[in-house]
Amino acid sequence: MDIADCYIKVRHRTEAICEPLQIEDYVVQPVVDVSPPKWHIGHTTWFFETFILKPYFAEYQEFDPNYNYVFNSYYETVGNRVIRTDRGNLSRPTVIDIKRYRKYVDDAMLNFIACGDISDDVKELLILGFNHEEQHQELLLTDIKFILGNNPLFPAYSKDYAAPKFHKTDAPFIKVDEGVYEIGSEGEGFSFDNELNRHKVYLNAFEISPDLVTNAEYLEFINDGGYHDFRHWHAAGWDWVNTNKAEAPMYWHNIEGEWHDYTYHGLQPVHMHDAVTHISYYEAYAYASWKGMRLPTEFEWEAAAKQFNWGLRWEWTESAYLPYPGFAKAPGAIGEYNGKFMVGQKVLRGASEVTSPNHSRITYRNFFQPELRWQFTGIRLAK
Ligand SMILES: [Fe+2]
Repeated sequence: MDIADCYIKVRHRTEAICEPLQIEDYVVQPVVDVSPPKWHIGHTTWFFETFILKPYFAEYQEFDPNYNYVFNSYYETVGNRVIRTDRGNLSRPTVIDIKRYRKYVDDAMLNFIACGDISDDVKELLILGFNHEEQHQELLLTDIKFILGNNPLFPAYSKDYAAPKFHKTDAPFIKVDEGVYEIGSEGEGFSFDNELNRHKVYLNAFEISPDLVTNAEYLEFINDGGYHDFRHWHAAGWDWVNTNKAEAPMYWHNIEGEWHDYTYHGLQPVHMHDAVTHISYYEAYAYASWKGMRLPTEFEWEAAAKQFNWGLRWEWTESAYLPYPGFAKAPGAIGEYNGKFMVGQKVLRGASEVTSPNHSRITYRNFFQPELRWQFTGIRLAK
């Protein structure tokens, strides 16, 4: 596929995700981590405008100079911006304005690509832009789920959404020998800077489950009083449980004694054979402790991943999000993409049912704060 086709495809997919929304759904920001859909569609457009069109396309005329303030996410290099908590307070620009902005930038981008005079550096930025938009496609889906799933009417997102089936193998734990393993991207094809450099890690012998933990298994933890037994929790996790009165995964609701789960199809009885999801790192850790096991480190996960199925849930690991040996930030604003977040977060490995197609790989490092659970997170045990 040539670059223009890749560009069109990635931009269309974002619009297709928004297709089932009503205009009001585009605007709200129920919590700080969840951005309004209209902000995502503006911000992904701003990314191409800011990092490609303005610096590299001489004939480009900026759509609206005020949009930099509205759609810059976190790039200090690029100037001031709306504080993150205020994204949902903006009734303007309207959804129609932002769609016009998308069209304007898309036309300019396709003209720019058609000129054919694209250096390798700009090509790299384009591919980063595609991957950036794919990351926001996943955020759009999880943010939409949060917006609708926290509405008292529990509206469905789309009847057409098809959740992939989870097949438990029930096979024994996979045994992995002690030894030195190579971790990180080999540098073939696209990777984010946080997957570099490839380096050696010594691992003790370990065992890892071929399966994700199911809802039925997680319910045993709940029914055994797991949320009321401090022994399974970190101090911060125990504070989190008590402050939030947590007693189940995020979208679970106990209705007259039966657990229900908010899904893209609306509220449904919990499907016991599905992989548990929307749990915090604290909950993943507590569940593993209750089982007398632990979570894998990100290095164990990567060393073993070819031996099990992954891709349905972002799997919490025991690893802190840190730079690999030799990690280097790119010069300029793009250097702010990953490196400045390497403090106070846990690594998640794999991918999820709402990760964009072809966006996953074994070396991919996702990362979130331990209390967050609006992504499709899950648990794989190790010992
Ligand atoms: Fe972004």
